[in-house]
Amino acid sequence: MNKPILVTGCAGFIGFHICKKLLENGFNVIGIDNINNYYDINLKNKRLAILSKLHLKNQTWNFYKTDLINKDKLFEIFKEYNPETVINLAAQAGVRYSLENPSAYINSNIVGFSNILECCRSSKVKRLLYASSSSVYGGNTKIPFSENDPVNHPVSLYAATKRSNELMAHTYSHLYKLSCIGLRLFTVYGPWGRPDMAPMIFADAIINKKPIKVFNHGNMSRSFTFIDDVIQNIFDLMQKPAVIDQNFNCKYPNPSTSFAPNMILNIGNSESINLEKFISYLETEFGINAIKEYEETQKGDVNDTQADDSLLKNWIGDSPKTPLSIGIKSFADWYKNYYF
Ligand SMILES: NC(=O)c1ccc[n+]([C@@H]2O[C@H](COP(=O)([O-])OP(=O)(O)OC[C@H]3O[C@@H](n4cnc5c(N)ncnc54)[C@H](O)[C@@H]3O)[C@@H](O)[C@H]2O)c1
Repeated sequence: MNKPILVTGCAGFIGFHICKKLLENGFNVIGIDNINNYYDINLKNKRLAILSKLHLKNQTWNFYKTDLINKDKLFEIFKEYNPETVINLAAQAGVRYSLENPSAYINSNIVGFSNILECCRSSKVKRLLYASSSSVYGGNTKIPFSENDPVNHPVSLYAATKRSNELMAHTYSHLYKLSCIGLRLFTVYGPWGRPDMAPMIFADAIINKKPIKVFNHGNMSRSFTFIDDVIQNIFDLMQKPAVIDQNFNCKYPNPSTSFAPNMILNIGNSESINLEKFISYLETEFGINAIKEYEETQKGDVNDTQADDSLLKNWIGDSPKTPLSIGIKSFADWYKNYYF
């Protein structure tokens, strides 16, 4: 029996897909999620139902409904299973909601993440992969966003918590030799996606013939990144953990590597797509024209994101590359099947 992999946020969009991939590849998986009601919990429960069916055919799947805040329970789970690898995806996600409910971000993303680090330390976990976000690039306008760029100007509390995670992970990596990779994820979309994110909001609006709010009057672009690419990259990174950068120079510190086994990597499609173009692909798939309402940029949002994928490519020989035409078709097919 291989050592189990512990995945937090397993009922979430990305967590579900990574657990599915791991179970399909014969890994034993422990999933943790508090199934919070930030969005429709039916979607989360349906994802979990798929995972629990998969394990009948394959390896062991153990799910715990618990909160990262519950340190005692977390310690109990880590002690019981002694995971070698931890993939931490549980977090309060979403930029805009961080203006409404900041404490949710402090609780899950700061306190919860510090509990994960403590559990990793006490159970001598070998490697931790955790979700950071492209939002850490904040007010930067140098495109594409590189891991070597300074990231000291976040424009939302969400981004600040994700940047804090990167700094906290580095400390544990240095002090306890915990190999850590921070995944700076760029706008992930695809089947079983998040209802609070633009692709699902747009799809709902188009289907129901309701107006789509197009922020910054359409002058927005994103490195829209297809879920299958993200999952393949995480899967490969799991098998190629961070190592000490032997050429690291403390006089001229490279922000993306370290004297500790710690790395930060962009996980994003290097092509940045204008929001209106993204909408037009959805219109084609659904055969309906969108009704658009142009508005100002929302507080906390950044106008453009674009991933520099060269470090990821150098490390694992791959990076997200699914074209929008293919990714959107897969998303729209799932959407029609799920909602109709
Ligand atoms: N989807 C994206 O485009 C994107 C982009 C950048 C970063 N991220 C990050 O990737 C990770 C996964 O994102 P996602 O899109 O799958 O989000 P998601 O909201 O679908 O999944 C997160 C899951 O974590 C659970 N959760 C939240 N707080 C918890 C807590 N305190 N204890 C236990 N479980 C908790 C939620 O119930 C949810 O099922 C998050 O950390 C998110 O911030 C996602």
